[in-house]
Amino acid sequence: MNQQEAFENRLTSLRDTEENAVQKQHQKGKLTARERLNILFDEGTFFEIGAFVEPHQSAAAKKAASGDGVIAGRGLIQGRSVFAFAQDFTVLGGSLGFAHGSKIAQVQEMAFKLGAPIIGLIDSGGARIQEGIKSLSAYATIFRNNVRSSGIIPQISVILGPAAGGAVYSPALTDFVFMTDKTSFMFVTGPDVIKEVLNEDIDMESLGGGNVHASKSGVAHFVYDDEEHAILAVRKLLAYLPSNNFEPLPLSTHIQFHEARQEYLDKIIPDDANRPYDVKEVIQILLDKDTFFEVHEKFAQNIMVGFGRLNGKTIGVVANQPKVLAGTLDINASLKGARFVRFCDAYNIPLLILEDVPGFLPGVDQEHSGIIKHGAKLLYAFCEATVPKITVILRKSYGGAYIVMSSKNTGGDFNFAWASAEIAVMGPAGAIKIVNRAELAKSKNPAELEKELIDKYKNEIANPFRAEELGLIDEVIKPSDTRNILITAFEILSNKQYSPLSRKHGNIPL
Ligand code: HXC
Repeated sequence: MNQQEAFENRLTSLRDTEENAVQKQHQKGKLTARERLNILFDEGTFFEIGAFVEPHQSAAAKKAASGDGVIAGRGLIQGRSVFAFAQDFTVLGGSLGFAHGSKIAQVQEMAFKLGAPIIGLIDSGGARIQEGIKSLSAYATIFRNNVRSSGIIPQISVILGPAAGGAVYSPALTDFVFMTDKTSFMFVTGPDVIKEVLNEDIDMESLGGGNVHASKSGVAHFVYDDEEHAILAVRKLLAYLPSNNFEPLPLSTHIQFHEARQEYLDKIIPDDANRPYDVKEVIQILLDKDTFFEVHEKFAQNIMVGFGRLNGKTIGVVANQPKVLAGTLDINASLKGARFVRFCDAYNIPLLILEDVPGFLPGVDQEHSGIIKHGAKLLYAFCEATVPKITVILRKSYGGAYIVMSSKNTGGDFNFAWASAEIAVMGPAGAIKIVNRAELAKSKNPAELEKELIDKYKNEIANPFRAEELGLIDEVIKPSDTRNILITAFEILSNKQYSPLSRKHGNIPL
Protein backbone atom coordinates (compact mmCIF):
# COMPACT_ATOMS: atom_id res chain seq x y z
CA MET A 1 0.00 0.00 0.00
CA ASN A 2 1.55 3.32 -1.02
CA GLN A 3 1.41 6.47 1.12
CA GLN A 4 -1.54 7.91 -0.78
CA GLU A 5 -3.57 4.71 -0.33
CA ALA A 6 -2.74 4.57 3.40
CA PHE A 7 -3.91 8.18 3.78
CA GLU A 8 -7.18 7.46 1.92
CA ASN A 9 -7.79 4.37 4.07
CA ARG A 10 -7.27 6.32 7.26
CA LEU A 11 -9.63 9.06 6.06
CA THR A 12 -12.33 6.49 5.19
CA SER A 13 -11.97 4.85 8.61
CA LEU A 14 -12.24 8.26 10.34
CA ARG A 15 -15.35 9.08 8.30
CA ASP A 16 -16.91 5.72 9.21
CA THR A 17 -16.23 6.27 12.92
CA GLU A 18 -17.70 9.75 12.68
CA GLU A 19 -20.79 8.51 10.82
CA ASN A 20 -21.32 5.81 13.45
CA ALA A 21 -21.03 8.37 16.21
CA VAL A 22 -23.50 10.69 14.48
CA GLN A 23 -25.91 7.79 14.01
CA LYS A 24 -25.65 6.85 17.69
CA GLN A 25 -26.38 10.43 18.69
CA HIS A 26 -29.41 10.61 16.36
CA GLN A 27 -30.72 7.28 17.63
CA LYS A 28 -30.89 8.79 21.10
CA GLY A 29 -33.09 11.60 19.74
CA LYS A 30 -30.19 14.03 19.95
CA LEU A 31 -28.49 16.27 17.42
CA THR A 32 -24.75 16.59 16.96
CA ALA A 33 -22.84 19.55 18.35
CA ARG A 34 -22.51 21.08 14.88
CA GLU A 35 -26.19 20.61 14.04
CA ARG A 36 -27.06 22.40 17.27
CA LEU A 37 -24.80 25.34 16.46
CA ASN A 38 -26.37 25.56 13.01
CA ILE A 39 -29.79 26.06 14.61
CA LEU A 40 -28.48 28.52 17.19
CA PHE A 41 -26.75 30.97 14.88
CA ASP A 42 -27.86 33.02 11.91
CA GLU A 43 -26.98 31.00 8.83
CA GLY A 44 -23.31 30.91 7.90
CA THR A 45 -22.15 33.23 10.68
CA PHE A 46 -20.36 30.78 12.98
CA PHE A 47 -16.60 31.39 13.26
CA GLU A 48 -14.86 28.49 14.94
CA ILE A 49 -11.98 28.93 17.35
CA GLY A 50 -9.49 26.19 18.28
CA ALA A 51 -10.76 23.49 15.91
CA PHE A 52 -7.34 21.83 15.82
CA VAL A 53 -6.46 22.03 19.50
CA GLU A 54 -5.00 18.66 20.46
CA PRO A 55 -6.09 16.77 23.56
CA HIS A 56 -3.61 16.69 26.42
CA GLN A 57 -1.46 13.59 26.69
CA SER A 58 -3.32 10.85 28.51
CA ALA A 59 -4.75 7.42 27.87
CA ALA A 60 -7.84 9.23 26.61
CA ALA A 61 -5.89 11.35 24.14
CA LYS A 62 -5.71 8.51 21.64
CA LYS A 63 -9.48 8.41 21.47
CA ALA A 64 -10.18 12.12 21.52
CA ALA A 65 -10.18 13.72 18.10
CA SER A 66 -8.58 17.09 17.47
CA GLY A 67 -10.72 19.82 18.99
CA ASP A 68 -10.92 17.64 22.15
CA GLY A 69 -14.67 17.12 22.09
CA VAL A 70 -15.93 20.67 22.10
CA ILE A 71 -16.68 23.17 19.34
CA ALA A 72 -16.17 26.77 20.38
CA GLY A 73 -16.55 30.07 18.61
CA ARG A 74 -18.59 33.13 17.79
CA GLY A 75 -21.63 33.71 15.61
CA LEU A 76 -24.51 36.10 15.13
CA ILE A 77 -28.01 35.84 16.57
CA GLN A 78 -30.44 38.30 15.00
CA GLY A 79 -27.31 40.05 13.77
CA ARG A 80 -25.79 40.42 17.26
CA SER A 81 -22.49 38.91 18.33
CA VAL A 82 -22.76 35.88 20.65
CA PHE A 83 -20.11 33.37 21.80
CA ALA A 84 -20.90 29.69 22.26
CA PHE A 85 -19.44 26.28 22.90
CA ALA A 86 -21.03 22.94 22.11
CA GLN A 87 -19.82 19.74 23.75
CA ASP A 88 -19.57 16.68 21.54
CA PHE A 89 -20.84 13.60 23.35
CA THR A 90 -19.43 11.37 20.62
CA VAL A 91 -15.92 12.18 21.83
CA LEU A 92 -15.35 10.49 25.20
CA GLY A 93 -18.88 11.26 26.32
CA GLY A 94 -18.32 15.02 26.04
CA SER A 95 -16.13 14.71 29.12
CA LEU A 96 -14.12 17.76 30.02
CA GLY A 97 -10.38 17.33 29.62
CA PHE A 98 -7.84 20.10 30.06
CA ALA A 99 -7.75 21.19 26.39
CA HIS A 100 -11.55 21.00 26.16
CA GLY A 101 -11.89 23.14 29.30
CA SER A 102 -9.28 25.62 28.09
CA LYS A 103 -11.22 26.16 24.85
CA ILE A 104 -14.39 26.91 26.84
CA ALA A 105 -12.44 29.28 29.09
CA GLN A 106 -11.06 31.06 26.04
CA VAL A 107 -14.50 31.84 24.58
CA GLN A 108 -15.75 32.83 28.03
CA GLU A 109 -12.90 35.32 28.33
CA MET A 110 -13.48 36.69 24.82
CA ALA A 111 -17.21 37.12 25.51
CA PHE A 112 -16.37 38.95 28.74
CA LYS A 113 -13.84 41.28 27.08
CA LEU A 114 -16.10 41.99 24.12
CA GLY A 115 -19.34 42.38 26.07
CA ALA A 116 -21.25 39.63 24.27
CA PRO A 117 -23.56 36.92 25.68
CA ILE A 118 -22.25 33.37 25.94
CA ILE A 119 -24.20 30.16 25.44
CA GLY A 120 -23.07 26.70 26.49
CA LEU A 121 -24.59 23.67 24.78
CA ILE A 122 -23.93 20.95 27.34
CA ASP A 123 -23.77 17.21 26.65
CA SER A 124 -21.17 15.81 29.00
CA GLY A 125 -20.21 13.06 31.43
CA GLY A 126 -18.38 15.64 33.57
CA ALA A 127 -14.70 15.72 34.49
CA ARG A 128 -12.65 13.47 32.19
CA ILE A 129 -11.66 10.74 34.58
CA GLN A 130 -8.40 9.87 32.79
CA GLU A 131 -7.08 13.45 33.11
CA GLY A 132 -7.48 13.66 36.86
CA ILE A 133 -6.74 17.00 38.47
CA LYS A 134 -6.01 18.66 35.09
CA SER A 135 -9.68 18.27 34.33
CA LEU A 136 -10.74 19.59 37.73
CA SER A 137 -8.50 22.64 37.34
CA ALA A 138 -10.09 23.38 33.95
CA TYR A 139 -13.53 23.25 35.57
CA ALA A 140 -12.38 25.62 38.30
CA THR A 141 -11.29 28.17 35.66
CA ILE A 142 -14.67 27.89 33.95
CA PHE A 143 -16.56 28.41 37.22
CA ARG A 144 -14.44 31.45 38.09
CA ASN A 145 -15.12 32.89 34.65
CA ASN A 146 -18.87 32.28 35.14
CA VAL A 147 -18.80 34.20 38.39
CA ARG A 148 -16.70 37.03 36.98
CA SER A 149 -19.07 37.45 34.02
CA SER A 150 -22.20 37.32 36.18
CA GLY A 151 -24.14 40.57 35.87
CA ILE A 152 -21.88 41.74 33.03
CA ILE A 153 -22.83 39.50 30.11
CA PRO A 154 -25.88 37.21 29.89
CA GLN A 155 -24.82 33.57 30.29
CA ILE A 156 -27.14 30.81 29.12
CA SER A 157 -26.80 27.02 29.45
CA VAL A 158 -28.68 24.55 27.31
CA ILE A 159 -28.58 20.97 28.58
CA LEU A 160 -28.97 18.57 25.67
CA GLY A 161 -27.78 15.28 27.09
CA PRO A 162 -26.24 14.32 30.38
CA ALA A 163 -24.73 17.00 32.59
CA ALA A 164 -23.11 14.92 35.27
CA GLY A 165 -20.77 15.79 38.11
CA GLY A 166 -18.76 18.94 37.40
CA ALA A 167 -20.86 19.59 34.27
CA VAL A 168 -23.75 20.84 36.40
CA TYR A 169 -22.02 23.64 38.22
CA SER A 170 -21.23 25.92 35.31
CA PRO A 171 -24.92 25.91 34.25
CA ALA A 172 -25.93 26.52 37.87
CA LEU A 173 -23.77 29.65 37.87
CA THR A 174 -25.27 30.98 34.63
CA ASP A 175 -28.41 33.11 34.31
CA PHE A 176 -30.75 30.69 32.55
CA VAL A 177 -30.81 26.91 32.17
CA PHE A 178 -32.72 25.31 29.29
CA MET A 179 -33.36 21.56 29.19
CA THR A 180 -35.04 19.08 26.90
CA ASP A 181 -37.61 16.57 28.10
CA LYS A 182 -36.44 12.93 28.17
CA THR A 183 -33.05 13.51 26.50
CA SER A 184 -31.32 15.71 29.07
CA PHE A 185 -30.37 15.02 32.66
CA MET A 186 -28.58 16.93 35.39
CA PHE A 187 -27.23 15.40 38.57
CA VAL A 188 -24.24 15.74 40.84
CA THR A 189 -24.23 12.01 41.56
CA GLY A 190 -26.02 9.59 39.27
CA PRO A 191 -28.38 6.65 39.92
CA ASP A 192 -25.49 4.14 40.33
CA VAL A 193 -23.84 6.13 43.12
CA ILE A 194 -27.18 6.70 44.81
CA LYS A 195 -27.83 2.96 44.74
CA GLU A 196 -24.38 2.23 46.14
CA VAL A 197 -24.43 4.81 48.93
CA LEU A 198 -28.10 4.92 49.89
CA ASN A 199 -29.44 1.71 48.37
CA GLU A 200 -32.15 3.78 46.63
CA ASP A 201 -33.38 2.90 43.16
CA ILE A 202 -34.04 5.77 40.79
CA ASP A 203 -33.68 6.20 37.04
CA MET A 204 -31.97 9.15 35.36
CA GLU A 205 -35.25 10.72 34.22
CA SER A 206 -36.84 10.69 37.68
CA LEU A 207 -33.62 11.85 39.30
CA GLY A 208 -32.64 14.74 37.07
CA GLY A 209 -34.74 14.90 33.90
CA GLY A 210 -35.90 18.15 32.30
CA ASN A 211 -39.34 18.13 33.88
CA VAL A 212 -38.01 17.36 37.35
CA HIS A 213 -35.63 20.30 37.23
CA ALA A 214 -38.21 22.61 35.67
CA SER A 215 -40.96 21.85 38.19
CA LYS A 216 -39.38 20.50 41.37
CA SER A 217 -35.84 21.73 41.92
CA GLY A 218 -36.17 24.91 39.87
CA VAL A 219 -32.66 24.33 38.45
CA ALA A 220 -34.08 24.58 34.90
CA HIS A 221 -35.87 27.75 33.83
CA PHE A 222 -37.19 26.26 30.61
CA VAL A 223 -37.97 22.77 29.33
CA TYR A 224 -38.86 21.87 25.75
CA ASP A 225 -39.90 18.66 24.00
CA ASP A 226 -36.99 18.66 21.60
CA GLU A 227 -33.64 20.25 20.95
CA GLU A 228 -34.73 22.41 18.06
CA HIS A 229 -37.44 24.14 20.12
CA ALA A 230 -35.07 24.57 23.06
CA ILE A 231 -32.38 26.20 20.92
CA LEU A 232 -34.86 28.42 19.06
CA ALA A 233 -36.19 29.57 22.44
CA VAL A 234 -32.69 30.70 23.38
CA ARG A 235 -32.68 32.93 20.30
CA LYS A 236 -36.06 34.29 21.37
CA LEU A 237 -34.88 35.03 24.91
CA LEU A 238 -31.83 36.90 23.66
CA ALA A 239 -34.08 39.27 21.70
CA TYR A 240 -35.23 40.78 25.04
CA LEU A 241 -31.76 41.19 26.53
CA PRO A 242 -28.93 43.64 26.09
CA SER A 243 -25.57 42.14 25.12
CA ASN A 244 -23.99 43.41 28.32
CA ASN A 245 -24.83 45.50 31.38
CA PHE A 246 -23.86 48.78 29.69
CA GLU A 247 -25.70 48.30 26.42
CA PRO A 248 -29.20 49.80 25.99
CA LEU A 249 -32.08 47.34 25.81
CA PRO A 250 -33.07 46.14 22.34
CA LEU A 251 -36.14 47.95 21.00
CA SER A 252 -38.93 46.57 18.90
CA THR A 253 -40.59 48.91 16.43
CA HIS A 254 -43.32 46.41 15.65
CA ILE A 255 -45.87 47.41 18.31
CA GLN A 256 -49.31 45.85 18.52
CA PHE A 257 -51.51 45.55 21.58
CA HIS A 258 -54.91 44.24 22.64
CA GLU A 259 -56.74 47.54 22.26
CA ALA A 260 -60.21 45.99 22.37
CA ARG A 261 -59.43 43.90 25.45
CA GLN A 262 -58.37 46.75 27.77
CA GLU A 263 -61.94 47.19 29.01
CA TYR A 264 -62.11 43.53 29.98
CA LEU A 265 -59.67 44.44 32.78
CA ASP A 266 -62.47 46.46 34.45
CA LYS A 267 -64.32 43.17 34.97
CA ILE A 268 -61.52 40.69 35.55
CA ILE A 269 -61.41 40.84 39.36
CA PRO A 270 -64.22 38.59 40.72
CA ASP A 271 -66.74 40.17 43.15
CA ASP A 272 -65.93 37.50 45.67
CA ALA A 273 -62.46 38.30 47.03
CA ASN A 274 -61.75 34.61 47.56
CA ARG A 275 -62.33 33.64 43.95
CA PRO A 276 -59.24 33.26 41.77
CA TYR A 277 -58.57 34.63 38.29
CA ASP A 278 -55.63 34.15 35.96
CA VAL A 279 -53.07 36.92 36.32
CA LYS A 280 -51.47 35.76 33.05
CA GLU A 281 -54.49 37.22 31.27
CA VAL A 282 -53.82 40.59 32.92
CA ILE A 283 -50.17 40.44 31.83
CA GLN A 284 -51.05 39.52 28.26
CA ILE A 285 -53.60 42.30 27.95
CA LEU A 286 -51.28 44.95 29.38
CA LEU A 287 -48.19 44.05 27.37
CA ASP A 288 -47.63 44.38 23.65
CA LYS A 289 -49.36 41.52 21.83
CA ASP A 290 -47.71 38.09 22.15
CA THR A 291 -44.60 39.42 23.82
CA PHE A 292 -44.82 37.76 27.24
CA PHE A 293 -41.99 35.24 27.53
CA GLU A 294 -42.46 33.37 30.75
CA VAL A 295 -39.47 32.22 32.78
CA HIS A 296 -39.69 29.29 35.24
CA GLU A 297 -43.20 28.50 33.97
CA LYS A 298 -43.49 25.17 35.80
CA PHE A 299 -41.80 26.12 39.05
CA ALA A 300 -43.47 27.93 41.98
CA GLN A 301 -46.53 28.75 39.91
CA ASN A 302 -47.94 30.97 42.67
CA ILE A 303 -45.67 33.69 41.29
CA MET A 304 -45.20 34.45 37.61
CA VAL A 305 -42.08 36.02 36.17
CA GLY A 306 -41.01 36.76 32.64
CA PHE A 307 -39.96 39.25 30.02
CA GLY A 308 -42.27 41.23 27.81
CA ARG A 309 -42.48 44.43 25.83
CA LEU A 310 -44.45 47.51 26.69
CA ASN A 311 -44.64 49.94 23.80
CA GLY A 312 -41.71 48.12 22.20
CA LYS A 313 -39.43 48.26 25.26
CA THR A 314 -38.28 45.26 27.29
CA ILE A 315 -39.61 45.01 30.82
CA GLY A 316 -39.51 42.30 33.46
CA VAL A 317 -42.84 41.25 35.00
CA VAL A 318 -43.31 39.80 38.48
CA ALA A 319 -46.91 38.87 39.28
CA ASN A 320 -48.62 36.95 42.06
CA GLN A 321 -50.86 34.22 40.63
CA PRO A 322 -54.15 33.95 42.61
CA LYS A 323 -54.92 30.70 40.77
CA VAL A 324 -52.18 28.82 42.63
CA LEU A 325 -52.00 28.72 46.45
CA ALA A 326 -54.11 31.92 46.34
CA GLY A 327 -50.96 33.75 45.23
CA THR A 328 -49.25 33.38 48.61
CA LEU A 329 -45.52 33.76 48.82
CA ASP A 330 -43.73 30.57 49.84
CA ILE A 331 -40.07 29.62 49.79
CA ASN A 332 -39.93 28.65 46.14
CA ALA A 333 -41.89 31.71 45.00
CA SER A 334 -39.51 33.94 46.97
CA LEU A 335 -36.46 32.30 45.41
CA LYS A 336 -37.93 32.47 41.91
CA GLY A 337 -38.94 36.10 42.28
CA ALA A 338 -35.67 37.20 43.89
CA ARG A 339 -33.49 35.63 41.24
CA PHE A 340 -35.51 37.22 38.44
CA VAL A 341 -35.53 40.67 40.05
CA ARG A 342 -31.76 40.55 40.50
CA PHE A 343 -31.27 39.52 36.86
CA CYS A 344 -33.42 42.41 35.65
CA ASP A 345 -31.63 44.85 37.91
CA ALA A 346 -28.21 43.69 36.71
CA TYR A 347 -29.18 44.33 33.07
CA ASN A 348 -31.18 47.53 33.60
CA ILE A 349 -34.51 45.95 32.74
CA PRO A 350 -37.39 47.95 34.34
CA LEU A 351 -39.75 45.98 36.54
CA LEU A 352 -43.54 45.81 36.53
CA ILE A 353 -45.01 44.20 39.63
CA LEU A 354 -48.64 43.04 39.58
CA GLU A 355 -49.70 42.36 43.11
CA ASP A 356 -52.44 40.17 44.54
CA VAL A 357 -51.00 38.45 47.57
CA PRO A 358 -52.71 37.53 50.83
CA GLY A 359 -49.37 37.04 52.63
CA PHE A 360 -46.63 34.51 53.18
CA LEU A 361 -47.76 30.87 53.17
CA PRO A 362 -48.28 29.69 56.73
CA GLY A 363 -47.08 26.25 57.84
CA VAL A 364 -44.64 24.33 59.98
CA ASP A 365 -42.87 22.99 56.91
CA GLN A 366 -42.36 26.50 55.52
CA GLU A 367 -41.13 27.85 58.85
CA HIS A 368 -38.76 24.95 59.46
CA SER A 369 -37.45 25.12 55.90
CA GLY A 370 -36.54 28.76 56.37
CA ILE A 371 -39.29 30.94 54.89
CA ILE A 372 -37.82 33.74 57.03
CA LYS A 373 -34.47 33.75 55.26
CA HIS A 374 -35.86 32.82 51.83
CA GLY A 375 -38.65 35.41 51.97
CA ALA A 376 -35.97 37.91 52.97
CA LYS A 377 -34.23 37.23 49.66
CA LEU A 378 -37.19 38.63 47.73
CA LEU A 379 -37.36 41.60 50.05
CA TYR A 380 -33.62 42.17 49.68
CA ALA A 381 -33.80 41.88 45.90
CA PHE A 382 -36.57 44.47 45.55
CA CYS A 383 -34.94 46.88 48.04
CA GLU A 384 -31.60 46.53 46.27
CA ALA A 385 -32.91 46.92 42.71
CA THR A 386 -32.32 50.40 41.32
CA VAL A 387 -34.11 49.94 37.98
CA PRO A 388 -37.48 51.67 37.48
CA LYS A 389 -40.01 49.71 39.56
CA ILE A 390 -43.76 50.13 39.19
CA THR A 391 -46.26 48.18 41.26
CA VAL A 392 -49.94 47.85 40.45
CA ILE A 393 -51.99 46.41 43.31
CA LEU A 394 -54.80 44.47 41.68
CA ARG A 395 -56.45 43.06 44.78
CA LYS A 396 -54.90 41.72 47.99
CA SER A 397 -51.89 43.39 49.49
CA TYR A 398 -51.56 42.32 53.07
CA GLY A 399 -48.89 42.51 55.71
CA GLY A 400 -45.28 41.64 54.93
CA ALA A 401 -46.30 40.71 51.43
CA TYR A 402 -47.48 44.30 50.81
CA ILE A 403 -44.08 45.54 51.89
CA VAL A 404 -42.12 42.98 49.87
CA MET A 405 -43.76 43.51 46.50
CA SER A 406 -41.91 46.77 45.89
CA SER A 407 -43.96 49.04 48.12
CA LYS A 408 -43.11 52.77 48.12
CA ASN A 409 -40.93 52.61 51.22
CA THR A 410 -38.80 49.79 49.85
CA GLY A 411 -37.97 52.06 46.90
CA GLY A 412 -40.84 51.37 44.51
CA ASP A 413 -40.96 54.35 42.13
CA PHE A 414 -44.70 54.27 41.53
CA ASN A 415 -47.37 52.29 43.37
CA PHE A 416 -50.74 52.29 41.64
CA ALA A 417 -53.84 50.43 42.76
CA TRP A 418 -57.09 49.36 41.22
CA ALA A 419 -60.22 50.20 43.23
CA SER A 420 -60.50 46.47 44.02
CA ALA A 421 -57.29 46.68 46.09
CA GLU A 422 -57.33 45.59 49.73
CA ILE A 423 -54.32 47.04 51.52
CA ALA A 424 -53.82 46.44 55.24
CA VAL A 425 -51.83 44.62 57.89
CA MET A 426 -53.96 41.52 57.41
CA GLY A 427 -57.16 40.31 55.78
CA PRO A 428 -60.50 41.40 57.30
CA ALA A 429 -61.49 38.02 58.78
CA GLY A 430 -58.22 37.62 60.69
CA ALA A 431 -58.04 41.28 61.70
CA ILE A 432 -61.44 41.54 63.38
CA LYS A 433 -60.89 38.30 65.28
CA ILE A 434 -57.92 39.98 66.96
CA VAL A 435 -59.14 43.56 67.32
CA ASN A 436 -62.80 42.79 68.12
CA ARG A 437 -62.33 39.53 70.03
CA ALA A 438 -64.07 40.67 73.23
CA GLU A 439 -66.96 42.29 71.36
CA LEU A 440 -67.53 39.14 69.26
CA ALA A 441 -67.40 36.90 72.34
CA LYS A 442 -70.10 38.94 74.07
CA SER A 443 -72.34 39.30 70.99
CA LYS A 444 -75.67 37.49 70.84
CA ASN A 445 -75.37 37.29 67.07
CA PRO A 446 -71.63 36.95 66.36
CA ALA A 447 -72.10 35.98 62.69
CA GLU A 448 -74.00 39.19 61.91
CA LEU A 449 -71.58 41.28 63.93
CA GLU A 450 -68.64 39.69 62.16
CA LYS A 451 -70.14 40.63 58.78
CA GLU A 452 -70.69 44.21 59.94
CA LEU A 453 -67.16 44.48 61.30
CA ILE A 454 -65.67 43.06 58.09
CA ASP A 455 -67.54 45.64 55.99
CA LYS A 456 -66.42 48.42 58.33
CA TYR A 457 -62.80 47.19 58.18
CA LYS A 458 -62.92 47.10 54.38
CA ASN A 459 -64.45 50.58 54.12
CA GLU A 460 -62.29 52.28 56.70
CA ILE A 461 -58.95 50.50 56.65
CA ALA A 462 -58.36 47.90 53.93
CA ASN A 463 -58.89 50.02 50.83
CA PRO A 464 -56.65 51.83 48.39
CA PHE A 465 -58.19 55.28 48.98
CA ARG A 466 -56.84 55.42 52.54
CA ALA A 467 -53.39 54.49 51.21
CA GLU A 468 -53.76 57.15 48.50
CA GLU A 469 -54.50 59.82 51.13
CA LEU A 470 -51.33 58.82 52.95
CA GLY A 471 -49.30 59.10 49.73
CA LEU A 472 -48.49 55.37 49.84
CA ILE A 473 -50.46 54.79 46.66
CA ASP A 474 -49.72 57.32 43.91
CA GLU A 475 -53.08 56.92 42.27
CA VAL A 476 -56.08 54.64 42.25
CA ILE A 477 -56.43 53.91 38.55
CA LYS A 478 -59.06 52.40 36.31
CA PRO A 479 -57.95 48.93 35.18
CA SER A 480 -58.64 49.74 31.52
CA ASP A 481 -56.35 52.80 31.75
CA THR A 482 -53.48 50.80 33.21
CA ARG A 483 -51.53 50.17 30.01
CA ASN A 484 -51.45 53.84 29.04
CA ILE A 485 -50.51 54.91 32.56
CA LEU A 486 -47.70 52.35 32.69
CA ILE A 487 -46.29 53.52 29.36
CA THR A 488 -46.18 57.12 30.63
CA ALA A 489 -44.84 56.15 34.05
CA PHE A 490 -42.00 54.05 32.61
CA GLU A 491 -41.25 56.89 30.20
CA ILE A 492 -40.99 59.32 33.15
CA LEU A 493 -38.62 56.91 34.90
CA SER A 494 -36.47 56.20 31.86
CA ASN A 495 -33.70 58.55 33.00
CA LYS A 496 -33.57 57.14 36.51
CA GLN A 497 -30.04 57.49 37.87
CA TYR A 498 -28.44 55.67 40.73
CA SER A 499 -25.14 55.99 42.59
CA PRO A 500 -23.63 52.72 43.73
CA LEU A 501 -22.94 52.60 47.45
CA SER A 502 -19.36 52.50 48.58
CA ARG A 503 -19.16 48.95 49.87
CA LYS A 504 -17.67 45.72 48.59
CA HIS A 505 -21.05 44.02 48.41
CA GLY A 506 -24.10 43.55 50.57
CA ASN A 507 -24.82 40.29 52.33
CA ILE A 508 -28.01 38.90 50.78
CA PRO A 509 -29.50 36.25 53.12
CA LEU A 510 -28.43 33.22 51.05
C1 HXC B 1 -14.21 9.93 30.69
C2 HXC B 1 -16.30 9.32 30.03
C3 HXC B 1 -16.86 10.05 31.11
C4 HXC B 1 -15.98 10.74 32.00
C5 HXC B 1 -18.45 9.14 29.99
N1 HXC B 1 -17.32 8.78 29.38
N2 HXC B 1 -18.20 9.90 31.06
N3 HXC B 1 -14.99 9.28 29.84
N4 HXC B 1 -14.66 10.65 31.74
N5 HXC B 1 -16.43 11.44 33.01
C6 HXC B 1 -17.18 7.96 28.19
C7 HXC B 1 -17.54 6.50 28.41
O1 HXC B 1 -16.46 5.79 28.92
C8 HXC B 1 -17.89 6.04 27.00
O2 HXC B 1 -16.70 5.82 26.30
C9 HXC B 1 -18.53 7.29 26.40
O3 HXC B 1 -18.10 8.39 27.21
C10 HXC B 1 -20.04 7.25 26.41
O4 HXC B 1 -20.46 6.92 27.72
P1 HXC B 1 -21.60 5.84 28.03
O5 HXC B 1 -21.53 5.53 29.46
O6 HXC B 1 -21.46 4.69 27.06
O7 HXC B 1 -22.91 6.65 27.64
P2 HXC B 1 -24.32 6.65 28.35
O8 HXC B 1 -24.76 5.26 28.61
O9 HXC B 1 -25.19 7.52 27.49
O10 HXC B 1 -24.11 7.35 29.77
C11 HXC B 1 -23.69 8.70 29.84
C12 HXC B 1 -23.32 9.06 31.29
C13 HXC B 1 -22.34 7.99 31.86
C14 HXC B 1 -24.60 9.07 32.13
C15 HXC B 1 -22.75 10.46 31.31
O11 HXC B 1 -21.27 7.85 30.90
C16 HXC B 1 -21.76 8.37 33.17
O12 HXC B 1 -22.41 8.15 34.22
N6 HXC B 1 -20.53 8.90 33.17
C17 HXC B 1 -19.85 9.29 34.38
C18 HXC B 1 -20.50 10.50 34.96
C19 HXC B 1 -19.83 11.00 36.22
O13 HXC B 1 -19.90 10.35 37.28
N7 HXC B 1 -19.10 12.08 36.07
C20 HXC B 1 -18.54 12.66 37.21
C21 HXC B 1 -17.12 12.80 36.98
S1 HXC B 1 -16.50 13.55 38.46
P3 HXC B 1 -16.61 4.66 25.18
O14 HXC B 1 -15.15 4.66 24.80
O15 HXC B 1 -17.06 3.41 25.83
O16 HXC B 1 -17.51 5.12 24.08
C22 HXC B 1 -16.71 15.20 38.23
C23 HXC B 1 -16.21 16.03 39.40
C24 HXC B 1 -16.03 17.46 39.07
O17 HXC B 1 -17.19 15.68 37.26
C25 HXC B 1 -16.45 18.26 40.26
C26 HXC B 1 -16.35 19.73 39.99
C27 HXC B 1 -17.26 20.53 40.92
